[in-house]
Amino acid sequence: MLKSAKMMKNLTLSTALVVLGAGFAVAETPAQSRDGGFGLGRTALPEEIAAWDIDIRPDGLGLPVGSGDVYTGEELYIDNCAACHGDFGEAVGRWPVLAGGRGTLDGEDPHKTIGSYWPYLSTVWDYVHRAMPYGGAQSLSDDEVYAITAYLMYLNDMVDDDFELSNENFLEVAMPNETAFFMDDRASTEYTVFAGEPCMENCAESVSITARATVLSVTPETEGDTGAAAVTPAAVVEEAAAPEPAVAAGPDPALVAAGEGLFRQCASCHQIGEGAVNRTGPQLNNTYGAPVGSHEGFRYSPAFQQAGESGMIWDDETLTAFLLDPRGYIQGNRMAFRGLRSEEDAAAMVAYIRAAGGEAK
Ligand code: HEC
Ligand code: HEC
Repeated sequence: MLKSAKMMKNLTLSTALVVLGAGFAVAETPAQSRDGGFGLGRTALPEEIAAWDIDIRPDGLGLPVGSGDVYTGEELYIDNCAACHGDFGEAVGRWPVLAGGRGTLDGEDPHKTIGSYWPYLSTVWDYVHRAMPYGGAQSLSDDEVYAITAYLMYLNDMVDDDFELSNENFLEVAMPNETAFFMDDRASTEYTVFAGEPCMENCAESVSITARATVLSVTPETEGDTGAAAVTPAAVVEEAAAPEPAVAAGPDPALVAAGEGLFRQCASCHQIGEGAVNRTGPQLNNTYGAPVGSHEGFRYSPAFQQAGESGMIWDDETLTAFLLDPRGYIQGNRMAFRGLRSEEDAAAMVAYIRAAGGEAK
């Protein structure tokens, strides 16, 4: 007991001394304290730092002086890269594809390539310079990397065959997919949602049943089921469309319920109703009757901004057309959704958006 307590004390003392010694030396000159203090390591030489410090940033920081054209790049590429990546960037076997794939990212079978996906050309330069050719990393000169990068741009239909890339025109290049990236906005869009105290009891003032599983068609039809079969949204709409005694104005509850069921397809991107906030897509409250792209705080695509500025309003006609064919109706917009399947589904969705999200004044 006594012995170990004493050892502890010695240990503490020597630790204290070392720290003190270091603090003392640092106050004089840092480099000397390393050499003379612990005897560990030495200050890195400028050449050593330079060999590590090779990253190229989107704003051009780190880019060396140099240039190279498509023709030179093609020859270098054939010699150094084509064996794995294919003559035209199409890839040999399962090596990575370097060209093509534009417009496939929101499809069933997305092809992520430099041209279809990468936001900045500086990453291409940096990657090739840093890591390629595979197995012979950093064997290419700066001019060779410029030339190969120019050829990769050519393979991705970004430039013509007489193009020359240099440190001077480098920043003029905009990658095809750059605008699909945006700054991390989760601090404003998501943090507020998760940061609040969660409500654990009596959270809603009043509770009412607004939809039934049969209407939403989530109840499976079992064999020999003689009871009411699950009603599909389309069936609900037909039923709703049939003439019936008009009781009160306002959206048909069955239609709204069908729309609510369909909204599952949208909920990964959109919120609607009380407390809804912008996520991947804008929150959808007060959308009906509002100009296109008018929800505050959401970064709409230029296509949406233009449509809004030209006076386009969300009404039955525009919403229906948009939801049936988002891509075709407002070209160049960013809603990655292939569209609802039928007019009936669209009518249900519009009814739901009006009922759950209210209308713009
Ligand atoms: C021996 C085969 C081989 C050769 C030769 C080769 N690469 Fe690669 N390349 C790869 C592999 C493997 C990867 C993926 C590496 C990883 O993901 O870690 C890759 C990745 C890349 C990527 C990133 C692709 C992406 O979308 O992530 C680029 C760009 C690239 N190579 C360019 C080149 C260029 C330019 C050359 C010639 C100077 C070259 N490569 C030579 C095997 C090769
Ligand atoms: C993958 C994400 C995603 C899905 C799924 C999606 N949306 Fe969108 N939606 C967006 C984005 C992003 C925008 C803004 C588009 C732009 O700025 O180009 C948008 C815009 C809208 C707008 C216009 C809002 C405004 O402020 O002008 C409506 C209405 C809309 N979506 C409804 C729907 C409905 C209904 C569904 C489901 C049937 C759906 N969306 C599915 C992402 C999505």
